[in-house]
Amino acid sequence: MTIRPLSPRLALMLAATALATPTLAQQATDAITPEVGTAPAGAATMVPDVAAPVTSEGWMIAAANPLAAQAGADILAAGGTAADAMVATQLVLGLVEPQSSGLGGGAFLVWYDAETGELTTLDGRETAPMAATPTLFLDENGAPLEFFDAVVGGLSVGTPGTPMLLETAHERWGTMPWPDLFERATELATDGFEVSPRLATLVAEDVDRLSVSPTSADYFLPGGTPIAAGTTLANPAYAQTLTALAEGGADAFYTGDIAQGIVDTVNAAARPGVLAVSDLAAYDVVERPAVCATYRAHEVCGMGPPSSGALTVGQILGMLDNYDLAAIGPESAEAWRLIGDASRLAFADRGRYMADSDYVPMPTQGLVAPDYLARRAELLAGDDALPEVSAGSPDWDHAQLWADDASIELPSTSHISIVDAEGNALSMTTTIENGFGSRLMSGGFLLNNELTDFSFETHTDGVPIANRVEPGKRPRSSMAPTIVMQDGAPVLVVGSPGGSRIIGYVAQAIIAHTDWGMDVQQAVAMPHLVNRFGTFDIEEGTAATALEAPLQEMGFETSVTDLTSGLHAIAIDGETLSGGADPRREGVAIGE
Ligand code: DON
Repeated sequence: MTIRPLSPRLALMLAATALATPTLAQQATDAITPEVGTAPAGAATMVPDVAAPVTSEGWMIAAANPLAAQAGADILAAGGTAADAMVATQLVLGLVEPQSSGLGGGAFLVWYDAETGELTTLDGRETAPMAATPTLFLDENGAPLEFFDAVVGGLSVGTPGTPMLLETAHERWGTMPWPDLFERATELATDGFEVSPRLATLVAEDVDRLSVSPTSADYFLPGGTPIAAGTTLANPAYAQTLTALAEGGADAFYTGDIAQGIVDTVNAAARPGVLAVSDLAAYDVVERPAVCATYRAHEVCGMGPPSSGALTVGQILGMLDNYDLAAIGPESAEAWRLIGDASRLAFADRGRYMADSDYVPMPTQGLVAPDYLARRAELLAGDDALPEVSAGSPDWDHAQLWADDASIELPSTSHISIVDAEGNALSMTTTIENGFGSRLMSGGFLLNNELTDFSFETHTDGVPIANRVEPGKRPRSSMAPTIVMQDGAPVLVVGSPGGSRIIGYVAQAIIAHTDWGMDVQQAVAMPHLVNRFGTFDIEEGTAATALEAPLQEMGFETSVTDLTSGLHAIAIDGETLSGGADPRREGVAIGE
């Protein structure tokens, strides 16, 4: 690791810190208590006061809803693999947290195989219909549609990938009979489940949009009233879909009545889409190599294109590898200046270069090459916020340069982390994109609006945008299911929802755990600061607000706001597994 020369402000700070921190080993510990030039005395610290993580020596699952996590835990307790448990968990999530993920959406999965020691990824991203063109989200005058005009209805619906991903993961790594994995979800869909406070709140906030589709309105707003927390809600249509899939596999989804039902729903919407049964019949999951970046003693590995997740997390960490964050500590605005501006530089590259690499040439390896990131990291050597950032020039043997992109992403999504008794690790982020997706429902599940993750514009000043819509293409994602490796073995499994803020949440959790010595529950709970495009988002009602004034003095614009991550993580330390669930949502970690 190369440590850069310190900026004058940082050198002064560390000199003062050194007086109180005699050894290097002590530094990491001291770095998580308030230090010079940081939060005012008596202010809450950035190390959250939370319960210790759940620990076990066998298996562990962390997911966004207790019923879903328990379904996976039951499979793990019965001897199933992480892939088996993921299927059971996802099927229940699609019922009890339908606004976030489900059979009508897509997902990315990172898998560590304990037997071979290998990492791989499965791309179950939605695809654009073959009838989609780059102007899909432009109106008759060539102007981009308003975001929610594009989201609600059939236009935004891509071919779902999640059902095929479940089947592929099970075929590759499952050991339990496929129909057994459907039992709990089918039972809950038939008998009903207790509506959670979060689901009830989100339905109440989305009444107007959910009302646009009669099927969604009937289910979420029975008799015109939003479903209430604590009431029992059955979903017979979903139970029927589950039975068909349990008996017929993914084929039963991609062909026949279920596929036709999806296409009919898309076509009958007030703003119809262009999805066809042939798009569903042609869908396939793609296995891709994991993208890894070096950070300290670790390889941080995750999902490459069409996700920007692993590349952007990897760029942020790869730049920060040149600075000693452990010594600076999380209470210091200096640490967040470095993290925030590294993130802005990474987002500049993301906007320029990252898209579905099956459609556009991409400098994938060049973007995370340590020498390129060391050059980019030199830009962080000053004391103040970078006045402006632009995309860099990674090593690339392709001449074409893309125009900067401007796509919009807003909340839903879920993350599942699992380690099974054999030591296999699974990190999967799963989504229908916006909360309640396109708001269209078919077969008891919501249909995604993933196509709005494409750029609405096709060109900037005549230069094409890499992430423009094209037939069959997969929209760029920010999802960052991650497995952090050390000496060839996993040490941290992590991921989050949060749109393009996912990247900041995941990078921050990795820094908190590896540099600042926080346990996995502290790492997922700690206050967030995220900077993607210039404005520093600071989590409202947390200790992070004490950093607002010092960040402003450095020249950052700031915005104090809700930052609703949904981090679910498992740390692996020898035989001990520790699970962390984000207190901002309803998730739990269960281990045995
Ligand atoms: O793939 C993506 O990056 C987005 N569709 C994910 C959406 C999301 O995380 C919303 N989060 N709260």
